[in-house]
Amino acid sequence: MSKQKLGYSCRSCSQFFTKWSGICPKCAEWNTLEEDVFIPVEKTRFESHRVSHNRPELIHEIKASEGQRTATNITVVDRLLGGGVVEGSLILIGGDPGIGKSTLMLQLSEAFSTQGKTVLYVSGEESKEQAALRAKRLGIKTDKIYLFSETLFSEIKKAIDAIKPQLLIIDSVQIVYKGELPSLPGSVTQVKEIAMEAMHIAKGEKITTFLIGHVTKSGELAGPRVLEHIVDTVLDFEGDREHGYRILRSTKNRFGPTDEIALFQMGTKGLKEVLNPSEAFLKERIKDVAGSVIVPTMEGSSAFLVEVQALVAPTNFSTSSRKSTGLDQNRLSLLLAVLEKRVGYTFQSVDVFVSVAGGMKIVEPAADLGVLMSIASSFSKRSINSETVVIGEVGLTGEIRSVSRIESRLKEAIHMGFKYAVIPKKNSVGLPDSITKKLTIFGVDLVEEAIGQLLSRKGGTSTIQTKKVDYAGTTGAS
Ligand code: TYD
Ligand code: MG
Repeated sequence: MSKQKLGYSCRSCSQFFTKWSGICPKCAEWNTLEEDVFIPVEKTRFESHRVSHNRPELIHEIKASEGQRTATNITVVDRLLGGGVVEGSLILIGGDPGIGKSTLMLQLSEAFSTQGKTVLYVSGEESKEQAALRAKRLGIKTDKIYLFSETLFSEIKKAIDAIKPQLLIIDSVQIVYKGELPSLPGSVTQVKEIAMEAMHIAKGEKITTFLIGHVTKSGELAGPRVLEHIVDTVLDFEGDREHGYRILRSTKNRFGPTDEIALFQMGTKGLKEVLNPSEAFLKERIKDVAGSVIVPTMEGSSAFLVEVQALVAPTNFSTSSRKSTGLDQNRLSLLLAVLEKRVGYTFQSVDVFVSVAGGMKIVEPAADLGVLMSIASSFSKRSINSETVVIGEVGLTGEIRSVSRIESRLKEAIHMGFKYAVIPKKNSVGLPDSITKKLTIFGVDLVEEAIGQLLSRKGGTSTIQTKKVDYAGTTGAS
């Protein structure tokens, strides 16, 4: 046995240090060093997996096949993964505790087993009885799913050899450990080793493997970042537990698109896919209130509509607060500054809250104008026409910049029955008839123009507005 060293590994970059420090000397992340044991790499460590007749081959001589895929029959998951789960791929799925990872995995197990595939579900966190109870609750009736409540990896390996499953689920990668390593389960070394072993199992024996991983308080997948390099696909499960909606997002995918999402709703019978996100997100909306704006947003290849809400209220404290939920805080500050500078609103003595209804998160700048308009609407106590969608990125000088995929966004708005769209002027040229016939488009260059279009009252300055649509809200006078 070669010499082992006690020390600390960084959770973020997995570098080993003999001394502890508050900041990682390599990647400069704070508070990421944790106790660990350093094991020098032995030559023989993965020797057993080596194929002795391996040799480099010419790229055009290699027979490239797409790889067998298994459809999960959950439409949104299949789309997310690019048409089903690739045989022998290693997939990491991360998310907060209680978000529904185990539930989803059990539902996937059922989909596999009903197609005659054998599933081995390793549940290190729950007892067999607990997992079986959940399966019962989900109404899973199949004889092809094996449950195994075990955390020692060598035992799991034995079970894999005995059962020879086509689908392996390890719940979770942080609780399973290799006995020969001196560090604790969940430590950087353990998690890395388990992931490496899982990769050899997935590739070597063509067993599709899902690793479940926990997320730390700061929202990162616990365990080293290197996990993300090892696996083929990384899926993040997000959404807050208070809202029924759960979003599964692919952040890395060697076999399909990234940045796609799948939307679910947690119910009494597990996760139900949501096929029409726009409808789901707009369900509870109240029309004609100040501070509400509908924004078409893109996630991967799909567009859907979300409601952005703002509340501007007088503050009772010496320092006013700005809070955002589901939107970037820095972006909010920037939009407020633009409104102050360009339009002359003063936010000194008011609190500003903005949020995306339904627990959705928006990161793309194309929602800027929508957020800005919701603030302006609440500030001026006037509602925005309820049949209108707003799209545009806002620049520092108050210019409205063009956004990507404008047609997809507008088509979704038409699909949901909207009549008007305020969009960047550059995006408004050359739109096909199929869109312009059904949607009245207002192209805008500047923040002031958008405000003029959307909030000026009857007989206001905007000619388009008075002619074509009454943009004055019913909450009227301020
Ligand atoms: P779970 O899959 O255990 O989450 P994770 O594995 O990510 O920690 O799901 C946890 C929550 O989901 C739990 O609070 C109960 C709820 N739930 C339902 O609402 N309905 C159901 O049918 C199931 C199985 C769970
Ligand atoms: Mg779980």
